[in-house]
Amino acid sequence: MKGISVIKSDDKGISKNLRLDKYIANSRAGSRSEVKEYIRKGCVTVNGEVCHDSSYHVKETDEVCLKGQKIVYKKHVYYMLNKPSGVVSATEDPVERTVIDLFPAELRKGLFPVGRLDKDSVGLIIVTDDGEYAHRLTSPSGHVDKRYLIRTDLPLSEEDAKKFSEGITLADGTALKSAKLEISPDDPCRAEVTISEGKYHQIKRMIASCGKKVIYLKRISMGDIVLDPDLEEGQYKEL
Ligand code: URA
Repeated sequence: MKGISVIKSDDKGISKNLRLDKYIANSRAGSRSEVKEYIRKGCVTVNGEVCHDSSYHVKETDEVCLKGQKIVYKKHVYYMLNKPSGVVSATEDPVERTVIDLFPAELRKGLFPVGRLDKDSVGLIIVTDDGEYAHRLTSPSGHVDKRYLIRTDLPLSEEDAKKFSEGITLADGTALKSAKLEISPDDPCRAEVTISEGKYHQIKRMIASCGKKVIYLKRISMGDIVLDPDLEEGQYKEL
């Protein structure tokens, strides 16, 4: 089991040959067409001079401002979301509210959740538009640790913890890697679980194989990204 570094610094590097409209739109200041309109109306300056040319190629040394505000170029965006219960980990759904619906419309473009939490689970979800990063975080070869707080209907035992550590085989025959079950000294129905895989309903099925039921599940970390305890359910913050 190991962690993962959050963002490679060169992922955030500026692209030399980016058009002005794309450069500003990528900073999430508006859609490409809105940005073109800002440029046309003279709301955009490059190095202090109004620039009406959407196709102007931004140089690394250029200072671009929109309505007097300096634009900070972002190739990708990364958010930490505290997922509430009742919301699905998807980009769109014909019926259910999705984690992306928790973001304002102007931020949603290209965003998707990294990995999944069940509809009734809460806690840390990374939301990004960076597919490569998402792959690194979720690919089985990445072995990224995920930590969860759980509550169960019946007390957990040291025997259950031993089963977790030896590697549980689920009812359908899936053999899981060694995992950690750390039972709360104050309450045997509460525990912290650490797994390095991400199989469907994995923790619920692991606990079921011990003859108990998960009644609350909250993800508190993925690799070295730890859920900010000040983030209320439904809130997000940029990483
Ligand atoms: N394991 C589960 O069973 N559910 C989740 O949401 C996450 C891990």
